[in-house]
Amino acid sequence: MAAGVVGSSCRVECVARAVDTWYSYGRGYAVKGVSLEVYEGDRVVVMGTNGAGKTTLLKLLAGMLKPSKGRVYLCGYDTREVDESLTARFIGYVPQNPWLLVFNPRVIDEIAFTAKNFGLDPAEAEASILDVATRLDIVHILNRSPYTLSEGEIRRVVLASAIVHKPKLLLLDEPTAGLDNVLKDRLIETIKSLSRDYGVALVLATHDVEILPLLRDFRLVVLRDGAVAFEGSVGEALENPSVFYDSGLQPPVGVRISEKLGAYIDFYGVDPVANLLLSRKKLRDRICR
Ligand SMILES: Nc1ncnc2c1ncn2[C@@H]1O[C@H](COP(=O)(O)OP(=O)(O)O)[C@@H](O)[C@H]1O
Ligand SMILES: [Mg+2]
Repeated sequence: MAAGVVGSSCRVECVARAVDTWYSYGRGYAVKGVSLEVYEGDRVVVMGTNGAGKTTLLKLLAGMLKPSKGRVYLCGYDTREVDESLTARFIGYVPQNPWLLVFNPRVIDEIAFTAKNFGLDPAEAEASILDVATRLDIVHILNRSPYTLSEGEIRRVVLASAIVHKPKLLLLDEPTAGLDNVLKDRLIETIKSLSRDYGVALVLATHDVEILPLLRDFRLVVLRDGAVAFEGSVGEALENPSVFYDSGLQPPVGVRISEKLGAYIDFYGVDPVANLLLSRKKLRDRICR
């Protein structure tokens, strides 16, 4: 452990800071001049179309990729100047494909591996494993092979592994991919309560606009072609659909319906639209046309 680092305590309030960060895989830039600060307790959603640079930005914030230009600081450490093993303890990272992280024979070994890797003593590790497993409702599958689990279960297991060492920053890449709507809602609620109770800052990357209404209290960063196209609150964006259209995204279906209703009111007036609303079949026929 390097001098000055005690457990996973951060030496500054800013957990992650990207300063005019650029990243190239070899040709052109996947991330272009992104500046972003994530403080203790912050919750950020990074949104953008496929290829907008969300995963690359997450990997930069995790210290897994080093900026080609600019700087990324994790808990005050410049990721270009320190070894990833130093900054890894501050981070919980869940890739888009959770199966990539799984290699132990039982779920409990999977979670214990991270706990041991980050130096939790056995008693501390046991208490922490039990706590995350209870919160994520996976106690009953701790002895199962990860390879026998459903998509919803494996996502909760990988989340448990990512948070068991109480990191400062939890980075989740497309956490709701492959889940049905009920599981999505449940997972988002769990992620929110975990991050709140564990005091871990959260950065969640997604192209799934439909989860935004569940993330109204999050800060929103929209990436377009590697650069920040919008930074504000999720609530602000839901009030202003051009934030989505300008970056090649569709707003959530609820916003689109209210836009259509607004257009109908502008065109027909309030009363005819109110009559339409009273006749739900007619309304459905018109909106779905
Ligand atoms: N390993 C890689 N090698 C080369 N190019 C990559 C690699 N990963 C991503 N890219 C490119 O970087 C850009 C951003 O990709 P990515 O960060 O995965 O975006 P997103 O997560 O928003 O879909 C894309 O043009 C993609 O093709
Ligand atoms: Mg991605």
